[in-house]
This record gives sequence, C-alpha cells and structure tokens, in this order.
Amino acid sequence: MGIIEIENPKKVYTTYERGSSFFDTLKSLFVRKKIEVHALKGISLEIEEGELLGFIGPNGAGKSTTLKILTGVLHPTSGHVSVMGFVPGSSEAHTWETSVLSSDRNPSSYGISRHWIPLR
Ligand SMILES: Nc1ncnc2c1ncn2[C@@H]1O[C@H](COP(=O)(O)OP(=O)(O)O)[C@@H](O)[C@H]1O
Ligand SMILES: [Mg+2]
Repeated sequence: MGIIEIENPKKVYTTYERGSSFFDTLKSLFVRKKIEVHALKGISLEIEEGELLGFIGPNGAGKSTTLKILTGVLHPTSGHVSVMGFVPGSSEAHTWETSVLSSDRNPSSYGISRHWIPLR
C-alpha cells in the first residue's frame, strides 16, 4: 500500500460563464449561464513512503485541485484518494490528525494502529 494513493479522482466545478467583452460581462450580472469545468481527468499514481516527486504542469492542468483533494480541502466528484491509509477530510482522518496534534499519544484511544503515529 502506497503512503499516497491516487485512483482516478475527478473534480467537476460548477461555475458561471463570464463574457469577454464589456457588454457580456455586464449582461452576466443579470443573466448567468451555468457551466461545468472538468478540472481533473484520469490521474492515477501511487507514492511510496520516503519517495520524492515533482508535481509540474501548465496553468490550469489541475495541480492545485489535486493538492486540495489530497489535503481534504476538496472532495473529488468521483474516484478515490488515500493518504496514510485515510480518505483526506474524512472523520477518520480528522480523528488521526487530532491524535497527532493533541498530547494524547496513545493511538489505541482513537482506534488507530501504532504504525501510523510517527510524530513525537
Ligand atoms: N473554484 C473553481 N471554480 C471553477 N473552476 C475552477 C475552480 N478552481 C479551478 N478551476 C478550474 O479547474 C482547472 C484546474 O485548475 P487548477 O487545479 O487551479 O490548476 P493548476 O493549479 O494546475 O493551475 C482550470 O481549468 C481552472 O480554471
Ligand atoms: Mg495552482
């Protein structure tokens, strides 16, 4: 099991069309057309503990969206991501973070295996 697993997460943002001309921008204040932005399409990788990687790509490639999903700030529309065995942003991940940040270092208080408590 990789420390980070990314299995084809997809993110669809719902936003509104904005025109490029002054008139279109003015019009969009009153009439707004909903559009879907497909930010991630088919990225899958597994990162092992201790592995280093660079995450590069052109503007709009989906780097920030991927990192937001990995940190639990955003949830993918579909697909699966796990970090250290947890789904980022899930209640289990939150419980783990609490156990790391609090002074209670007894993982069994949280039903978590000792293997995943590396911090002192
Ligand atoms: N909050 C948002 N609402 C609508 N579209 C978004 C939002 N955030 C990002 N996007 C779109 O998703 C795509 C990926 O963006 P992003 O993850 O920020 O790319 P990167 O960080 O690689 O430049 C782009 O087309 C961007 O315009
Ligand atoms: Mg970015």
